[in-house]
Amino acid sequence: MTVTRAVALGCGHYLPARIVENAEFADQVETSDQWIRERTGIERRHFAAEGEATSDLAIAAARAALAHAGIEGREIDAIILATATPDATFPATATQVQQAIGAGGFAFDVQAVCAGFMYALATADALIRGGQARTIMVIGAETFSRILDFTDRRTCVLFGDGAGALILRAEEGTGGNGDRGVLGVKLRSDGAHRELLYVDGGPSTTGKAGKVRMEGPEVFKHAVVKLADIAHEVMEAAGVSGADVAWMVPHQANLRIIASTAKKSGLPMEKVVVTVQEHGNTSAASIPLALSVAVADGRIRRGDLLLMEGIGGGLAWGAALLRW
Ligand code: ACO
Repeated sequence: MTVTRAVALGCGHYLPARIVENAEFADQVETSDQWIRERTGIERRHFAAEGEATSDLAIAAARAALAHAGIEGREIDAIILATATPDATFPATATQVQQAIGAGGFAFDVQAVCAGFMYALATADALIRGGQARTIMVIGAETFSRILDFTDRRTCVLFGDGAGALILRAEEGTGGNGDRGVLGVKLRSDGAHRELLYVDGGPSTTGKAGKVRMEGPEVFKHAVVKLADIAHEVMEAAGVSGADVAWMVPHQANLRIIASTAKKSGLPMEKVVVTVQEHGNTSAASIPLALSVAVADGRIRRGDLLLMEGIGGGLAWGAALLRW
């Protein structure tokens, strides 16, 4: 029996030029490089320049992914862009990418904050397996610096800007877990926890974009439990264990959350891609950014089994298995 798989063709990323070191926040709020490093693992992050929009970051990542895959923009049938910081309320930022790279087909945004890339990947996988599109670009892109309250030390030190893109194409597989491509995705959300992590604005409420508000320690407690559970679920469904996973490519919010999830999934830290020290939490961009960094430096190789997972506002969370 053959099945259609969404197989990775290539990936790419983009980080804005401006690097902001932890120490720079100490001028604005009562914090220190030491606190930020010890509690989160973050050392620095990138912030978009004035006038640099989420679409600019996404387009740069999209072009890098096209170059890596060795294909032209017109070969892309669909673009799914995960972001919580779109250029505008509408149109979808994905359509700006579509126009810039000369893609046809259709393009739309998905919004699941830090779990956005898992939701976009699940959608792409379903569209490919359902025959709606053959080649899909999945992007995570954020300019979180635009929605930070720089007087709130509990949130402003945590986030950064960036974009990552992954190109998937339909290929025939055997249906077994030795196939290349997406082997499984699990998604979850629970609106009961809205107050733990949200933005205090929006088109239908305040008419303004608003700023990030977070009960960090509460989110932390949910994250360590929910991520380990969903990672276990996606591995069990695919019939694999932590020992089969070559690399965990997690959402990069906090080094302590990453370490806890890796341990519960049976993975030593040597098998975890960690970029949080350089990027901070880039929300929907963090997983494809980490993926692209580890592919570019040769850690991730063809045939490697990757476990990806992320959680964010909603709460929304998800995990995926992809054989590179
Ligand atoms: N500098 C110095 N002190 C600080 C800072 C700071 N930047 N921020 C908080 N503190 C203080 C707190 O006020 C608190 O002081 P108090 O005890 O006097 O009240 C103390 O440090 C300890 O604070 P905690 O919040 O308990 O520290 P914790 O170890 O939990 O770390 C953190 C906080 C980093 C936010 C952590 O809880 C975390 O990472 N949470 C999860 C974040 C996450 O995963 N979010 C999901 C994705 S984001 C998205 O979807 C958009």
